[in-house]
Amino acid sequence: MAEFNHLFDQWAGNYDNTVYGDDNEYAEVFEGYSKILSYVCDSIVDKSNGAILEIGVGTGNLTKELVDKNFNVIGIEPSKEMRKIAMSKLPRVPIFDGHFLDIPIAKSFDGIVTSYAFHHLTLQEKKEAITYLDAFLKPAGKLVIADTMFESPEYKKALHQHVKNSEAYGLLEDLRSEYYEYVDDIKKVLHDLGYSLEAKKMNKYVWIITASKGTI
Ligand SMILES: C[S@@+](CC[C@H](N)C(=O)[O-])C[C@H]1O[C@@H](n2cnc3c(N)ncnc32)[C@H](O)[C@@H]1O
Repeated sequence: MAEFNHLFDQWAGNYDNTVYGDDNEYAEVFEGYSKILSYVCDSIVDKSNGAILEIGVGTGNLTKELVDKNFNVIGIEPSKEMRKIAMSKLPRVPIFDGHFLDIPIAKSFDGIVTSYAFHHLTLQEKKEAITYLDAFLKPAGKLVIADTMFESPEYKKALHQHVKNSEAYGLLEDLRSEYYEYVDDIKKVLHDLGYSLEAKKMNKYVWIITASKGTI
């Protein structure tokens, strides 16, 4: 599970420039980043003051939005350098070392959220993580996953070609080597565990899946 720590330790200092900037090869992936984070917050629970677990907080941008909306957030982040930045922005938020399959706290949450991080797990690990995280959700809790996903093999192929044509070779390498899934594969795992689902496409890459427990 430390597979990507080195990469994120190195990226941490420049991460916010990447996500908020528009002249780098990841610009299309992060297009509408602020809107995406807001959508995650708005999807999570109806009431404010809810207890939220955020996994893969990075530099704490979604965390801050959740805190500003009066949620009680606990964060999990495996990269030490990312954690340092998030903790300096949000000194009152508990942010622990951990990962999708290792949540070092015993507590139930109204919502579990994650943005741009779930693709670091293989499909098998994602299945294990969803089952593991289910135990941390309260009976009517919601799990919200924002990440790059593909709607079909044709779309995936066309997008890879588009990235190649744009000469965004770093992004192309990420798309080939990290674990990006089809929307329907993630939905199936959640559906099989009894979640009801909504999925919304946010830009060329990013989808948000909102999974509600106990509503089927
Ligand atoms: C692209 S950043 C996204 C950060 C933030 N959530 C955002 O939306 O800007 C991905 C984050 O996921 C973290 N990460 C990588 N592997 C992870 C894992 N197995 N479990 C939890 N987080 C992980 C990385 O350390 C990194 O901070």
